[in-house]
Amino acid sequence: MTAEYQVHGDVAVIALNNPPVNGLGLSTRQAIVEGLEKAENDPAVKAIVLTGAGKAFSGGADIREFGSPKAIQEPNLLSVITRVENTSKPVIAAVHSVCMGGGLELALGAHYRIAAPGCNVALPEVKLGLIPGAGGTQRLPRVLGVEAALNMIISGEPVKSEMLAQLPGQKLFDKLSASAESLAEEAAAFAREMAAKHADGSAFPLVRNLPCKHKDGDAYFQFARNMVKGMAKNFPAPAKCVDAVEAATKKKFADGMAFEREIFINLMWTPECKSLRHLFTAERAASKIPDVPEDTPKRAIESVAVIGAGTMGGGISMNFLNAGIPVKMLEMKQDALDRGIGVIRKNYEAQVKKGKLKQDKYEQRMSLLSTTLSYDEIGSADLVIEAVFEEIGVKEAVFKELDRVMKPGAILASNTSTLDVNKIANFTKRPQDVVGMHFFSPANVMKLLEVVRGEATAKDVLATVMAVSKKIKKTAVVSGVCDGFIGNRMIEQYGRQGGFLLDEGCTPQQVDKAMEKFGMAMGPFRMGDLAGNDIGWAIRKRRYEEKPDMKYSKTADLLCEKGRFGQKVGKGWYDYVEGKRDAIPNAEVEQMIADHRKALGITPRKISDEEIVQRLVFSLVNEAAHILEEGIANKASDIDVVYIFGYGFPVYRGGPLNYANEVGLFNVVQAMKRFQKNPLDDAKFWEPAPLLTRLAAEGKTF
Ligand code: NAI
Repeated sequence: MTAEYQVHGDVAVIALNNPPVNGLGLSTRQAIVEGLEKAENDPAVKAIVLTGAGKAFSGGADIREFGSPKAIQEPNLLSVITRVENTSKPVIAAVHSVCMGGGLELALGAHYRIAAPGCNVALPEVKLGLIPGAGGTQRLPRVLGVEAALNMIISGEPVKSEMLAQLPGQKLFDKLSASAESLAEEAAAFAREMAAKHADGSAFPLVRNLPCKHKDGDAYFQFARNMVKGMAKNFPAPAKCVDAVEAATKKKFADGMAFEREIFINLMWTPECKSLRHLFTAERAASKIPDVPEDTPKRAIESVAVIGAGTMGGGISMNFLNAGIPVKMLEMKQDALDRGIGVIRKNYEAQVKKGKLKQDKYEQRMSLLSTTLSYDEIGSADLVIEAVFEEIGVKEAVFKELDRVMKPGAILASNTSTLDVNKIANFTKRPQDVVGMHFFSPANVMKLLEVVRGEATAKDVLATVMAVSKKIKKTAVVSGVCDGFIGNRMIEQYGRQGGFLLDEGCTPQQVDKAMEKFGMAMGPFRMGDLAGNDIGWAIRKRRYEEKPDMKYSKTADLLCEKGRFGQKVGKGWYDYVEGKRDAIPNAEVEQMIADHRKALGITPRKISDEEIVQRLVFSLVNEAAHILEEGIANKASDIDVVYIFGYGFPVYRGGPLNYANEVGLFNVVQAMKRFQKNPLDDAKFWEPAPLLTRLAAEGKTF
């Protein structure tokens, strides 16, 4: 049953029942139509209440039907809404909790609407690169006024029902119930009232018949267009929202609906919309681990200990404090603890100053934080996260201590970015309780969390860590153990290509500009300056020993030898003025690159932006294909999630593998073969990964 039908005296109640959010899938739509027919055919019924069972009125389209023919099969949502409008008895939509997308469009087809306070109302389609497609752009302006409606449609953000009910002249809600609990009763009473009102046969009010105008007419839409231009330069949907709402003010209702439909269908096939939809499903899929069922019992995490109060330890602690989970930080010396606490305080104070955090919330969070210098005081924590120096000997000492003091069943996590989690696990006598939790810097800001699954990591430990990551608002992706895990293993290849490009004739700013034009939040050299060039230097030094055959450009080493470690010292690939992040090109660095080229006997050539983008992005793709093939990542979409949430890959391109699919894997392979012929590049690396070759040959995608 995807909608329940009940009759209470002279009122029929149709309650959508398609958990979790009453998505308007085919069988739910059919059940609504059947309910309406039953109610019309029952002479005892005088009015109909349309509501939602459980935790929502309706969250809109059923995402399980995305891309399937069921999504548009009759009765499609447009037909259902028209059927509601044409019902011969008054239909009252009683909305609560969640009324979004198609759910709101459905409610707008009802003759009357009553809302419970606290209901989240939204048309979030723009977040998937779309506009509302079932009349939302035509009906919402008619009940809320053009400006309020357009703001909601462009932002896609939810607004509380009680706020909307206060808007002057609004016709969205005829009534607000006293509470969520009293909604059903008040809706039935209101339905009876409306039945009595129309007992004389008078027509029911329809939103489609309401006028729609903005007092400033064209001038307002001009302003709205300028506004969206700035905020959404890579996405077509927001500007189309303006077009559709403008049509509501200028066209007849039916023509406006046709116009909205046409835009909706055209947007559906844009790469931006496809990427956003891909990301939407990819993010949800990331939490699913093939051999760890969702109902795996989880360990309770009610307290956390963090070892190391440095850059990462502080940020990691803030995540838990923000979620109301007490944290105890452990350090070797009091002054390190004081420094760590000072940074956390400063971070929160900045948020308070900006009005993003209330003073009492700040104090409440700080009250959850305690510190210690002794391992004996952290043994009762449910989860301990180690964020000490990246040296295996230090990790060994720490994990041996943790093994000694932590209670049985506690989860022991390491934030290591490069070290072998299996090795770390074996420093303890409980490797099944050890897992990697690789946060990204700044750890309180970046959404990505790589959960590193060791050979021995228990399934319930994984399930627990995935659940905890949700609680602290991270997007977690599982990675197997390998050097660099998913993200950093790929970025190393990207960085290597950046180096070769300098040797061959590019400047750092040319490479950065090309990548930023492609949509990366930051080009590779600006990113190096931000992260600290010394980190890559340390990794390369290790590589020179471990993998002497691996080819690297030496420019980055020369840069580090000059002490140009990046923003933290005011100079790296670029110069920086204190307190500012602007990257200022530096003549000395450019000379250093040119001298190095000369020393290698390379005549610089002009390199196109297209070549820069292809070499950098396809280097990610080839490494990703190896990662997939080795089973380090569970699925291709996980890799896209890592790159979007951890490395500033453009959302509208949907991640490196989604982008490769769009370009066509055959073309990607051809480009790699071309790069193999460049004597200054690394021909061995550009051998397309077997998985990539196979998919391309079969005409498939990742
Ligand atoms: P950091 O140098 O800022 O902080 C490390 C802290 O650990 C210091 O405060 C130090 O006093 C403390 N410490 C060292 N040995 C200790 C011990 N035996 N017991 C208790 N405390 C000890 O280093 P950072 O950047 O916070 O890195 C920590 C870990 O996080 C490393 O494993 C690193 O690879 C990893 N990581 C770092 C990222 C970054 O961008 N900085 C990103 C992701 C992971």
